[in-house]
Amino acid sequence: MAIELYRDKTHACLMFTDLMEEDGQAVQCNQFLIVDHGTGAIIDPGGNLAFNELFMGMTRHFAPQKLSYVIASHADPDIIASLDRWMSSTKASLVISRVWERFAPHFTKVGKTEDRVIGVPDSGGRLPLGRTELLLLPAHFMHSEGNFHFYDPISRILFTGDLAVSMTTGAEARKPVVHMPSHIPRMEAFHRRYMVSNKILRLWAQMARQLDVQMLVPQHGAPIIGKRAIEDFYCWIENLECGIDLFGAQHYQIPSAQIDPVTRQMRTGQQAVATP
Ligand SMILES: [Fe+2]
Ligand SMILES: [Fe+2]
Repeated sequence: MAIELYRDKTHACLMFTDLMEEDGQAVQCNQFLIVDHGTGAIIDPGGNLAFNELFMGMTRHFAPQKLSYVIASHADPDIIASLDRWMSSTKASLVISRVWERFAPHFTKVGKTEDRVIGVPDSGGRLPLGRTELLLLPAHFMHSEGNFHFYDPISRILFTGDLAVSMTTGAEARKPVVHMPSHIPRMEAFHRRYMVSNKILRLWAQMARQLDVQMLVPQHGAPIIGKRAIEDFYCWIENLECGIDLFGAQHYQIPSAQIDPVTRQMRTGQQAVATP
């Protein structure tokens, strides 16, 4: 079931949190549908696990040929692995960073993306949608090298891709977060490893503060709602060391641990040598 993040007579933002099997093998993901005056865009449609239900969900709002865009924040498999099916079932254009423009066609059969890719330059842009527009905001290195976030000026939602995510279940992802201090422990490990550097987080927060944001909505986990929680999030990431801030020479050593393909565990170098 979709969650309505926003709805008025002509505009809606829907979030899907549980379109895939929760067997622990694939990370929980959110997909989004923005509808405006009878057309729309899918944001970060995800992999094949989510395609059928997302497609059905969309057809409740408009016919598949009315879909204007499939918008991808970056080119990870949990973002865009279902691209072939979207290109086959709709006439939508793919909107993606220029950094990934020529890589994304590897997800599809030959020719499916021909004249259908809108490659977005690093500076981003304003994308017309129905009678409104979406802001494609630079979010490079958070975590992907060519990465965008999406701001909807009608709902005042900022879709933040892999930023502001929490690792949780589809059911928990439906419950909005209003209190950051108790939520940070669920975000911290991910942001420390997947975000590239504190410098980038500070630059992003400086840009985001210029927008009137009611809701931060990530691609994994629960939305963050309300001015207080959003400002607390900005303050937290501005002071977070992550990625290359934390990596040093000790992370770039010739490895000695052996991978056991049967148990799929690592064995230390000494144990590996002792085994005949
Ligand atoms: Fe990603
Ligand atoms: Fe992701």
